[in-house]
Amino acid sequence: MKVTLHHYNFSTNHVEEMSSFYKNVLGLEESMEISGERITDQGYAGDTRFLLAGGDYQVHIATRDLFNGHKTGHYVNPLLTGHLAFRTDDIEELKARLDKHNVPYSDFGEWSIKGWYQIFLYDPDGNCLEIQQVNAEPEDHKSDIQLHHRNFSTNNVEEMTFFYRDILGLTESKEMNNGRILNEYDGETRFLIDENGNQVHIATRDLHNGFKTKHYVNPLLTGHVAFRVNDIEAVKKRLVENNVAFSDMGEWSIEGWYQIFLYDPDGNVLELQHIREL
Ligand SMILES: [Fe+2]
Repeated sequence: MKVTLHHYNFSTNHVEEMSSFYKNVLGLEESMEISGERITDQGYAGDTRFLLAGGDYQVHIATRDLFNGHKTGHYVNPLLTGHLAFRTDDIEELKARLDKHNVPYSDFGEWSIKGWYQIFLYDPDGNCLEIQQVNAEPEDHKSDIQLHHRNFSTNNVEEMTFFYRDILGLTESKEMNNGRILNEYDGETRFLIDENGNQVHIATRDLHNGFKTKHYVNPLLTGHVAFRVNDIEAVKKRLVENNVAFSDMGEWSIEGWYQIFLYDPDGNVLELQHIREL
């Protein structure tokens, strides 16, 4: 069974401002094609933008809907805090695994986009996830900025790792630990990878990381969404031009990874990283 990362959904009351930031400041490209496939008569018709984030990965910026659970009759509301989405080629096998481990889910069936069979659930920390089955060839979108990982910062590393590795089916990379730079942050971190190289990082929460590094953004409090960029200097220049402050950590937690951290207009913590040839 295949399970790959597919999109990150930001649910927001500021769709215009958020999409302008992700498009014009960070440089993601918008797709109009997916909008044309939307189903809007099943309890959600909010303004939604679809941005391409490298390969088959996407960013969705959707109007927050506090009452979506009430409208659909499902207990998980994917449009409250947003969600991280995975695509699989065998949703029935995944459902069987969730059942086996007593993980409940809301089975939406084909919902919101034609041909997208979707279930929604919570991971052990209460992060909202989507798992979808879609019978389509993966996209291979080239982009100067690509979604790379979702970092979950948690006091629950073991249980979270079990969930993403043994229930969802991502592969754990032990080798990535060899590249770690232990500095102000030496918390246990687990690296889970899909077959496209996209990742989920499960890291020990560090409430005081900002205090230790003297940087104003603490990437290990609420976790973060990370993008890999081809030209970090160009992105930094656009951030400065747009008055977006960032914490420039330099080559910080992993050998060869030059990292800056910042907030998007909704206060989500983002990492932008540039890879140095080792
Ligand atoms: Fe990260």
